[in-house]
Amino acid sequence: MGDSMISTMPQVTVRTLREMKHNGEKIAALTCYDASFTRVLESAGVDVLLVGDSLGMVVQGHDTTLPVTTEDVIYHAAAVARARSRALLIADMPFMSDASTETALRAAGRLVKEGGAQMVKLEGGSHQLELVRELTARSVAVCAHLGLLPQNVHRMGGYVVQGRDEHEAQHMISEAVALQKAGAQLLVLECVPCRLAEEITKALDIPVIGIGAGPSTDGQVLVLYDILGISAGRKPRFVKDFLDGRGTVEDAILAYVKAVKEVRFPAPEDCF
Ligand code: KIV
Repeated sequence: MGDSMISTMPQVTVRTLREMKHNGEKIAALTCYDASFTRVLESAGVDVLLVGDSLGMVVQGHDTTLPVTTEDVIYHAAAVARARSRALLIADMPFMSDASTETALRAAGRLVKEGGAQMVKLEGGSHQLELVRELTARSVAVCAHLGLLPQNVHRMGGYVVQGRDEHEAQHMISEAVALQKAGAQLLVLECVPCRLAEEITKALDIPVIGIGAGPSTDGQVLVLYDILGISAGRKPRFVKDFLDGRGTVEDAILAYVKAVKEVRFPAPEDCF
């Protein structure tokens, strides 16, 4: 897809994503942190660009996402926003930017005004309901995030699959429903058993985008550098190197989008 074609294509909005869910068309999302990759991702037909706080690990070299600041996310989101023409731009609320409703509203406002974000993503369930309501009331579109929450790494004792036992699974389902009711318009589900992800996806009207959550969610997201095989450290089971066996970065990203749309990724061996 050339740049001129992209700019004439309709924008991806929350309505588009909802229609895609209802039509059974899979949503292809990737993290993105700069203008050059934004152009490549949009040319490949990526629907959602997530300026994730994963930038703390893959761009800044930290061990966790915890040191990332609102300023950092704004810097990267603004770079993506300058090059974006079609895909929906989501920016992460960094660790502790939601320490109080007031700081969270201020941070979300800055992500939208200065970073050009069209939606903000918040990690967590029940404790975020009030904030989701407050943001929604102020016309900020919210993406919720359940399952493995990287900002919770120390409390969880590592990056571990969530929702494996029945009690945890039922709790996650009720949190997902409550987040939707509070106004969330999208949900990211990270590292949960694929049967639980399927149940949550069916229970919600809003689209669910999975990462390590199996093939039944309404779409997939991965960290950009992971699909290009250039991430440091241990590779999680659900990550696939799409550059392997392909000549260019553009081909790798096209292959990822195609595999998501054709429900060939994730494969059974990528699931919990
Ligand atoms: O920060 C991030 O990149 C994320 C995705 C991995 C979902 O939250």
